[in-house]
Amino acid sequence: MAPSEPPILVTCGLPYANGPCHIGHLRTYVPADIYVRGQKKMGYHPLFICGSDSHGTPIVVNAEERGTTPEELVSLYHDHFDDVFSRMGVEFDYFGNTDDPSNHRRTRSIVEALMDEGHVYEKDIQLAYCPSCDRSLPDRYVEGTCPYCSSPARGDECDQGCGRHLEPGEISDPVCKVCGSKAGYRTQKHYFFRLSAFSDFLIDYLQNLGGTANARNYALEWVKQELKDWCITRNLDWGVKFPGNEDLVVYVWVDAPIGYISFTEEWALRAEGDWERYWRKPSRIVHFIGGDIVYHHCIFWPAMLKGAGYTLPTAVVASGMLKIDNKTFSKSRGYVLWVIDDYLERGLHPDLLRYYLASYTSHTKELNFSWKIFAEKVNGELVGALGNFVNRAVTFTAKNFEGTVPVGNLDPEVTAKIEAAVVEVKAALAECEFKKLADGAMALADYGNVYFQANEPWKLAKVDRVRCAAVLKNCLQIGKALSILFQPVMPDKMESAWRQLGLSGAAAEALFDDALVPVEEGRRLGVPEHIFDKMDDSMVSDLEEIFKNRVAGLEGKKVEGGEEKMTPIKFEDFKRLDIRIASVKEAETIKGSEKLLRLIVDIGSEERQIVAGIAKSYRPEDLVGRNIVVLTNLEPARLFGVESRGMLLAGELDGSAVLLAPERETPPGTKIR
Ligand code: 2FM
Ligand code: ZN
Repeated sequence: MAPSEPPILVTCGLPYANGPCHIGHLRTYVPADIYVRGQKKMGYHPLFICGSDSHGTPIVVNAEERGTTPEELVSLYHDHFDDVFSRMGVEFDYFGNTDDPSNHRRTRSIVEALMDEGHVYEKDIQLAYCPSCDRSLPDRYVEGTCPYCSSPARGDECDQGCGRHLEPGEISDPVCKVCGSKAGYRTQKHYFFRLSAFSDFLIDYLQNLGGTANARNYALEWVKQELKDWCITRNLDWGVKFPGNEDLVVYVWVDAPIGYISFTEEWALRAEGDWERYWRKPSRIVHFIGGDIVYHHCIFWPAMLKGAGYTLPTAVVASGMLKIDNKTFSKSRGYVLWVIDDYLERGLHPDLLRYYLASYTSHTKELNFSWKIFAEKVNGELVGALGNFVNRAVTFTAKNFEGTVPVGNLDPEVTAKIEAAVVEVKAALAECEFKKLADGAMALADYGNVYFQANEPWKLAKVDRVRCAAVLKNCLQIGKALSILFQPVMPDKMESAWRQLGLSGAAAEALFDDALVPVEEGRRLGVPEHIFDKMDDSMVSDLEEIFKNRVAGLEGKKVEGGEEKMTPIKFEDFKRLDIRIASVKEAETIKGSEKLLRLIVDIGSEERQIVAGIAKSYRPEDLVGRNIVVLTNLEPARLFGVESRGMLLAGELDGSAVLLAPERETPPGTKIR
């Protein structure tokens, strides 16, 4: 970055530390990571910040339902997200937590600044109150009817109808979410942010806001209608205490985005950086968010920053909707892909999913995930085009030129193709068009294959070694360009290509403009190996099976008032389960999996191999010789390529597995009835 350039800060919408990471999260985080890596390839030094969103009513409700504390719940999911991001190659410079003291401090200081500037006022409002729980019912503690469209709604949003943000006290027919009682109303003093006074400012600001048009246009529509003042306090214990009235906490949507600032401060403390360069002086702040939180980022947030005297965001990049197998994404109905359990723990490489997310469709359009399309992309584009080209270039050179980069000039057409691909990729990055980026790079791989085929180096090797050398040199140059152009999308796989091509340094360090810096003649190539593996049909059907079983399993549950309730089953159905005492004969970890163990168990009549997700709770050596309980007639499944014929039964406590065991020594094979 030239010294005069403003510094770049990129953030991602903070995940609620309230449940595991799914593909919907990645739809924001992976493109943001691609953007950051791409900026580095342009020669900039962006700072990449995210963290857990730890406050708010849903976390309190969830912790209560699980019999744990919000702190413990948040810590569990904070670590979970941190782990998923590092396994998915999403590399934040800092991953904070909105419950950290720095965020409490910064939030209070910003709220105080807003109060000092006269942007906050007190007002008595009628709030839902549960007489039997004897408590106020903020946000999701209350359910009822949307006053605008009459759909069933939550206290803070009409989630099943018109999608409006609901202010406290707005919901009709309130019912307590905890005990189901009809709620009453109580008059309470709350604090409001004078959002309505920011209308003119927002209209101007939004017209020049960068990022994707969906964010800008939605927000402009809302601002042109009347903006309501915004209640920024809640009756909760969990959260940032409101300055001046410690019985209240600030609304989670106040302290969550302030996390972007306090995490920058935390990063600065550790890295000897300067947070004020980003938040107090001219800078380029780019927020990547899901399309459902545009209102918060384009209206509440800039108004708060403006009111308190901080730097305003330059761009808001909002991702489009997500479908699973062409069905609307739904965790409760099973149309979801859990990143750890359904993907990483199946032994699938993170870069394949990163490529899918980037290349399926434009960032603002609807993305559909299906294993069939996934396999088609892997086999056709990654294995068939990109992997095949790099492999052919490297193996052919290795065989015919003693594993070193041969001598030759670049063909003008090859130079032009590489140049065009670089221009295309840079432009795509500037527009946040990640599909265009991936397609532009893939077009170069297609060209590489055509070039290789048309020049027939296998014939040249016999008749014209000089031209053969030049053709391969051109291929290696295309390979280098591909590794650079694809590196933001598939960072790990492209390092492997880079090594095979015998290039010095790392793909991560190269700039886009290095794509045409000639590969060094005489350098030794690395050992050729396939960068991508083909997915066969049986693998695809195994993966599809998991989805189908999950959806079918959940269809047996009724969803009542947002709560899943199991429907009763007949005793006949229960009798079809063959559950037995088993004894563990062997236990070992499964390569590449952090969660799974492979066990050989004696179930009385025979020994069976089963795969169990207990590696984080039990060491293999502690299991051998123990009696456990196994469901033996579950359909066989493959996990990480290992067949599992049966399922070990265990409870779950605070995220750890707890094995079931007979109360006294019981022989293997004993039936459980
Ligand atoms: O919608 C969400 O998942 C929120 N946790 C996003 C917060 S982003 C920011 F403002 F902090
Ligand atoms: Zn509604």
